[in-house]
Amino acid sequence: MATQSTLWTGLVLLGVLGALQIPTHAQVSLQPNFQEEKFLGRWFTAGLASNASWFLEKKAMLSMCKSVVVRAADGGLNLTSTFLRKDQCETRTLLLRPADPPGCYSYVSPHWGSNHEVSVVETDYDVYALLYTEGVKGLAQDFRMATLYSRTQAPSAQVKEKFSTFAKAQGFTEDSIVFLPKADKCMGEHA
Ligand SMILES: *[C@@H]1O[C@H](CO)[C@@H](O)[C@H](O)[C@H]1NC(C)=O
Ligand SMILES: *[C@@H]1O[C@H](CO)[C@@H](O)[C@H](O)[C@H]1NC(C)=O
Repeated sequence: MATQSTLWTGLVLLGVLGALQIPTHAQVSLQPNFQEEKFLGRWFTAGLASNASWFLEKKAMLSMCKSVVVRAADGGLNLTSTFLRKDQCETRTLLLRPADPPGCYSYVSPHWGSNHEVSVVETDYDVYALLYTEGVKGLAQDFRMATLYSRTQAPSAQVKEKFSTFAKAQGFTEDSIVFLPKADKCMGEHA
């Protein structure tokens, strides 16, 4: 009996130490068996949640943005976003470097120059994806954001509910969650 309980304690300790050794992503789960290939293609940013002050100030003015995800030459992902700004379509590219485990990526924000990590927490690849982003160093260290990706510009009530539940589970309050209105420009196949 004594050996058994020692073994048990040992396993529990290993588990705890194992968890402690993971520097980030400890608090969000990841899509099991993430299949990067199926995640590629076009997504619309249909919902966002963050406690960043700039986000809380601007959230009412934001509209949906289109993101096209392709494989980058170095093995990471090239995420090109298109959005309407001052009546013009603008694009921004983020290069996501694969991190461990699969479904987790890191990138340097071209705007802030800070390091971020983004995780695909849950996705069915065909309809929606729930993403969690956090700043890991420098200025953006406190930055946290939850994102709802939708394959269409009209996510279902069910998908929106899923996102609200997810965002609240990450500690975001109701008033920091926004569903972005459909944009009438820049969202087409070639725009
Ligand atoms: C956002 O939340 C995180 C963690 O809850 C906190 O560390 C950070 O200071 C908050 N940021 C702002 C701008 O309130
Ligand atoms: C990322 O993709 C866009 C369009 O899909 C392309 O124009 C751009 O050159 C790519 N950037 C890199 C660094 O691969």
